[in-house]
Amino acid sequence: VLLIIIALISSYVIGGFNSAYYIGKLWGIDDIRKYGSGNPGTTNVLRILGKTAALLTLLFDVAKGVVAVLLGLLLFKSSGVAILCGIAVILGHNYPIQLGFKGGKGIATSIGVIFLLSPVAAIYSLLIGIIVIIITKYVSLGSIVGSILFPIFVAIFHGSWQYVLFGVVMALMAVYRHRANIGRLISGTESKIKLY
Ligand code: G3P
Repeated sequence: VLLIIIALISSYVIGGFNSAYYIGKLWGIDDIRKYGSGNPGTTNVLRILGKTAALLTLLFDVAKGVVAVLLGLLLFKSSGVAILCGIAVILGHNYPIQLGFKGGKGIATSIGVIFLLSPVAAIYSLLIGIIVIIITKYVSLGSIVGSILFPIFVAIFHGSWQYVLFGVVMALMAVYRHRANIGRLISGTESKIKLY
């Protein structure tokens, strides 16, 4: 049990290394959270710093999710521990101790987590999320729709109630972190992304 707690804390700390914040520093800005939407994530890095910085942010944040789940799978050979490590890394990204608990929305990190734990459901949710983004130009809407569909796809393709519960927790965390975006989407003030 002690080892599992250490793995969970490690996952949380890994999540707290917020790529957007540190890549922002590399690109010469003090704190990405003071610009654009204020969110330290891929979308806001794209908005403020451009495509290369955004791609790096995405890759590193996805990688954090992958590393945390691998920790659970390889060290404990347990999908239950892997799921908990996945949730811990996202909580670390969203509420990082390193950055005064003001982190991101966890979508990129979630992508890394769900691709290892439930790949088929992950691909379907991601594809639909991307289609929503391309059609509407709202990254937040694509993130929300993909997140809500994920537990439904898990139920269809995966079946086991532990995974469905995991999917529901992922969806709830994502929607909760997007509540400001939801307000802006409803009032029509959400910013659209330039894809090219
Ligand atoms: O995953 C974050 C994205 O859905 C929204 O980012 O910066 O527009 O709030 P942002």
